[in-house]
Amino acid sequence: MNRASWGSRLGFILAVAGSAVGLANIWRFPYLVGYHGGAAFIILYFICLALIGFPTFIAEILIGRSTQTNPDSAFRQLGGKNWSWGGKLTIITGFIVASFYSAVAGWILGYFIEAALGNLHLFTEPNQVVDYHSTLMNTPWWGVLFHFIFMMGATSVLFFGVRNGIERGNKIMMPLLFVILFLLVAQGLSMPNAKEGLTFLFYPDWSVITPATFLIALSQAFFTLSVGQGTLVTYGSYLKKEENLITSAFPIIIIDTLVSILASVAVFTIVFSTGLKPDAGPDLLFHTLPWAFSQITGGYFLAFLFFLLVTIAALTSEISALEPLIAWLVDEKGWKRTKAVLVAGLGAFCLGIPSALSFNLLKEHTWQDQTFFDWTHWLASDLLIPIGGILAVILVGWKWGADKAINHLMQGASVTFKRSPWLKIYFKFCFKYCSPFLILLVFLSIIGLFR
Ligand code: PHE
Repeated sequence: MNRASWGSRLGFILAVAGSAVGLANIWRFPYLVGYHGGAAFIILYFICLALIGFPTFIAEILIGRSTQTNPDSAFRQLGGKNWSWGGKLTIITGFIVASFYSAVAGWILGYFIEAALGNLHLFTEPNQVVDYHSTLMNTPWWGVLFHFIFMMGATSVLFFGVRNGIERGNKIMMPLLFVILFLLVAQGLSMPNAKEGLTFLFYPDWSVITPATFLIALSQAFFTLSVGQGTLVTYGSYLKKEENLITSAFPIIIIDTLVSILASVAVFTIVFSTGLKPDAGPDLLFHTLPWAFSQITGGYFLAFLFFLLVTIAALTSEISALEPLIAWLVDEKGWKRTKAVLVAGLGAFCLGIPSALSFNLLKEHTWQDQTFFDWTHWLASDLLIPIGGILAVILVGWKWGADKAINHLMQGASVTFKRSPWLKIYFKFCFKYCSPFLILLVFLSIIGLFR
């Protein structure tokens, strides 16, 4: 049987951009910027992108494109038998992410329904917004139901395969996402105190930056680019070998970054124009924004559009977190795609249930003060993703060999490399030294070595 492949370069770009653009861009990035000194954080984030995020992103897609197979067998082909464990680990990471990501995205979908029903723009006091949110979060079936519906949405796209499902789905959802985002930015910019929001966003406050901020910027770069969890290797494996990887991947980084910044512009112009504070953390989405929507004309449509935007962004990401396991079941176990999709989706749904219940029924069931959700989130984001990322760059930079890998990277991209000869030095330096070293540093600090 012929292996699946993308129908076009644009299809690949939108699918990977769909994976990258998610909750981390529209929810996490704005509140991180709000906490950590506005533009100072953004500059730090750019440095992380250039030195670690982008090279690791390219390394993973390259592994996939060169081997044309799932992460398990891709790692094995390039590194030998033992490396297959590394590939398997990234697939497991993607699966774990898919489980709690869907639980969280379920709340967003639930909020979208609330917005559509007209329940999110009529608050007359800030306390009401908080109460409304905690009532929903304290309703166990609410979270699980929307976690289920969200997972059904993701698996129904995956059912149709790589070209007719993932590619076509992203080709519809991503342009829609851009249109909604531009509408929200335009609305935000036209508001009375928009300038204050922009000043906050683009004025760097270096006084709040600490070494820990660097770690946060790095983990943000990794999570938002979908690095370290088999997704990029798998999506890269559907790419034809003659495709120019540099000119295909670079626009994705730009899109992902632009969405993060535009989402922040929309959020902060609206937040400042209603006299609210930008540093509400994760509650920015569920407390601050619905209160802001309640105070502006057109609040109904803004709430509706905003939560639709976040739902779409999350859906295209969820799809990509499940695909590595599906590809593995199809490639390695010879399963039919429909069966693989069903098992992967059902499995991630079941594993996600305790995450969804961690905010109500299982709130008190903690280990070392952390709920099931806290643990799975920590395990995947702080531990397994950096491990997956470092394995990919070490595989490319050392085991496979940076020079050999760069030769493969040049396939389809010789013109780009001729035009910018420094690219060779940049990638060699990053694959071999800079990225592995910096990821290791981050990793050691996460496990508490520098505390
Ligand atoms: N990149 C996604 C985001 O920014 C998250 C994601 C994780 C997607 C893992 C796919 C796989 O929200």
